[in-house]
Amino acid sequence: KQFLRPSTVNNLTKLVRNFSVTGQNNYKVAVLGASGGIGQPMSLLLKQTPAIKQLALYDIAHTPGVAADLSHIDTAAQVSGHIGAEQLGDCLTGSDVVVIPAGVPRKPGMTRDDLFNTNASIVADLSKACAKYCPTAFICIISNPVNSTVPICCEIYKKSGVSDTSKIFGVTTLDVVRSNAFIAEAKGFDVSKVNVPVIGGHAGITIIPVISQCSPSCSFEQPALEAITERIQDAGTEVVKAKAGAGSATLSMAYAGARFAASALDALSGKDNVVECAFIQSSITAATYFSTPLLLGPNGVKKNFGLGNLSDYEKKLVDACVPELQKSIKKGEEFAANFH
Ligand code: NAI
Repeated sequence: KQFLRPSTVNNLTKLVRNFSVTGQNNYKVAVLGASGGIGQPMSLLLKQTPAIKQLALYDIAHTPGVAADLSHIDTAAQVSGHIGAEQLGDCLTGSDVVVIPAGVPRKPGMTRDDLFNTNASIVADLSKACAKYCPTAFICIISNPVNSTVPICCEIYKKSGVSDTSKIFGVTTLDVVRSNAFIAEAKGFDVSKVNVPVIGGHAGITIIPVISQCSPSCSFEQPALEAITERIQDAGTEVVKAKAGAGSATLSMAYAGARFAASALDALSGKDNVVECAFIQSSITAATYFSTPLLLGPNGVKKNFGLGNLSDYEKKLVDACVPELQKSIKKGEEFAANFH
């Protein structure tokens, strides 16, 4: 099945490759924060995904307009708009996949953790509703700080009596997408064939591109390796600075979020070999949440591929990442413990 119409396929083979979803054509996908900088373009991409039968858009503002606009596109997905907390239940009921880009983005000079005070309660409220209305759906959390919002969601699920958190994912796909783009550019590779696993978390030094496992294989002199690793770690900040107060990455994140959602649908439909990196509850390192390449299946994570063989440099990056992650995880868990 193709993601876009045949006439546009030639120019957009990369999109087709990434978003092709096999199997059933009757999934419901909800987007929470659908009117935002990420939410709108991501919903546009999802509207073009053939496996989606219903696209339910939720926000605290502007969803009637966004839904009306998208509903005029001649693709199969039926679009519904839901606004305000009293319409959240309708949006979520029956959802197979929920993608969450709700919350405030960074401005220049801010870290992702600076968003904690606002976004933690937004994610906690939305998680509580997901646990109530669609406890078995794939939950894909984009809202930052991902290193804390994912633990918040898992803890809220447990508090709500939903013990299975194996379908709760922090979306780190943008780090993979950026790594693929930067390495292809540096090495002159065909970008559509590049795949770099990114492990750890989704903030600063917790973002660890595993360039030694890049496919096709490639190598850099140590200074160049450090420079490209740091560029990947700071890529979000590169966009925040370039946008100069108008927000953070939205278009590339929309692409990455739609790719992860399409993989979740592929996994649900029983497709083989669906592999994505994502930030999940994990026992791979001393940090209780960690991103690694995952084989996805209908029930969530089918297999965790772990760290694989790391270079000495990458091992050092993991050593620096773990305590940093532990702090963010603890902050999220403590917030959730006190949340009512
Ligand atoms: P934005 O401000 O443009 O949009 C956020 C949307 O969330 C708005 O439409 C707002 O009305 C909505 N919202 C606020 N409170 C809500 C609630 N309680 N329920 C539902 N919707 C609510 O922000 P943008 O640029 O779309 O970014 C969204 C989030 O994604 C930010 O936290 C940002 O840091 C994060 N992000 C994550 C990335 C990742 O790689 N995981 C990459 C880029 C951004």
